[in-house]
Amino acid sequence: MFRTVTHLACFFDVSVDYLMEDVPLPLLNYAKAVQKGDEPFVGRDWELVQLQQLYNLNLSSQSAACIQGMQGVGKTALIKRFLDQLQHTNKHSVYVPIEPNDAFTRRFCRAILCISNDLDDASVRLVIKALANTSLLYFYLLDWVGVTLDSAERYALSHLSPSRLGELEALAMTLLVQKALESSVSAIAIDNLHAANSKQLHFIEEFIEISKKQRLFLILGLTDIGLFTYPPDWLKHAHTISLGALNDSACESLASFYTKPQSLPPSQLELLRQLSIKRSNGHPAILKALIESTQGDKVFPEPLYKTTIRTLLELTHVQVSLLKFIACAGMAVKVEVIDYFLSIKSVTGIKPVHDLVCLGILCPKSNCYVFRHLLIWEIVLSLVIDSDRKEWKTFSQRQKKERYKHLPK
Ligand SMILES: Nc1ncnc2c1ncn2[C@@H]1O[C@H](COP(=O)(O)OP(=O)(O)OP(=O)(O)O)[C@@H](O)[C@H]1O
Ligand SMILES: [Mg+2]
Repeated sequence: MFRTVTHLACFFDVSVDYLMEDVPLPLLNYAKAVQKGDEPFVGRDWELVQLQQLYNLNLSSQSAACIQGMQGVGKTALIKRFLDQLQHTNKHSVYVPIEPNDAFTRRFCRAILCISNDLDDASVRLVIKALANTSLLYFYLLDWVGVTLDSAERYALSHLSPSRLGELEALAMTLLVQKALESSVSAIAIDNLHAANSKQLHFIEEFIEISKKQRLFLILGLTDIGLFTYPPDWLKHAHTISLGALNDSACESLASFYTKPQSLPPSQLELLRQLSIKRSNGHPAILKALIESTQGDKVFPEPLYKTTIRTLLELTHVQVSLLKFIACAGMAVKVEVIDYFLSIKSVTGIKPVHDLVCLGILCPKSNCYVFRHLLIWEIVLSLVIDSDRKEWKTFSQRQKKERYKHLPK
């Protein structure tokens, strides 16, 4: 329906709201994206409203938002969409993702201080000199923005006591926050927080602490795995927005957007769309990959497949056995079934299953564990060989017998 309305609007060279009353927001977004030729953005109206409310709240009292969800669910898309909306209100924002092997502190400080990456070191030194009121602060900031210190500058910093270094860090952070506010920056987004190393995490933690007293809205994007499986204490004050599945109408419009009409006959295209929507379970990156593969019912999207296999390679023998056992038992498995399996393997404690949760493979629910996504379950299941499958079946049957043996016959 979204595609038809948008095509009609394009054909008659009018906007979609000229053709129909009360245009739903996902359709409006879809039509805008098609007409502009860029990536569409659908659904997430509730999340955008939440972000806007938190942002407004931040004008009177400090607030922060943590956007979390599985890989590819749309955290970055949501954050960027919100920041785009802010731009229309003449407010500035800064978006800095954590990237592998990249100097986050350098990019973050340069973004806030409006220092271009192309600027040569001598010019950067001039900018920093104008900001810092002491030599030590000047050296400290130079290091943050990625200018190589000379030996005297390095010596001066390396001989400071930890408490003096702590004070300098706080001063430099305060200066960053002040500069951000002076340049009318009202929101700062740090994306991919889960990928940060300990030094970067320390920096971000300190920045959050210092900016708490200021009117800077912080948005943190993260996949809830590893250290972030459960919110750490220093993020407890942030409001969590957990991204789940896109709703049906958003999936329909996204599927239409990614379908190339020439690729298959219309009846097969419709089948591909429906199968891909079903298997994607409302996950936009998976939906896109399935549609683009034109084999929505068979393939596993490559990024998801690779991530899952990479994760499996890191597991211990017991964890792999446990995971395959759970997969054979179903997409969701009761806690007592897992307990039974671990007792047979003479494993005490919940570490193996806790690790699977922290790796983003399983989700804990009230009385069971569920695979994080239907396709993660299917990938694991596809790796179980027939002989294993029989063994797991015997396990489950034995477990059922054990469970009911105390009942009168
Ligand atoms: N609301 C949405 N509407 C349309 N497309 C979306 C939406 N959300 C995500 N997508 C698409 O899905 C893909 C993955 O989105 P995105 O990169 O935002 O996910 P992510 O959660 O940030 O992933 P990662 O965990 O890898 O950082 C992108 O191609 C993006 O355009
Ligand atoms: Mg992202």
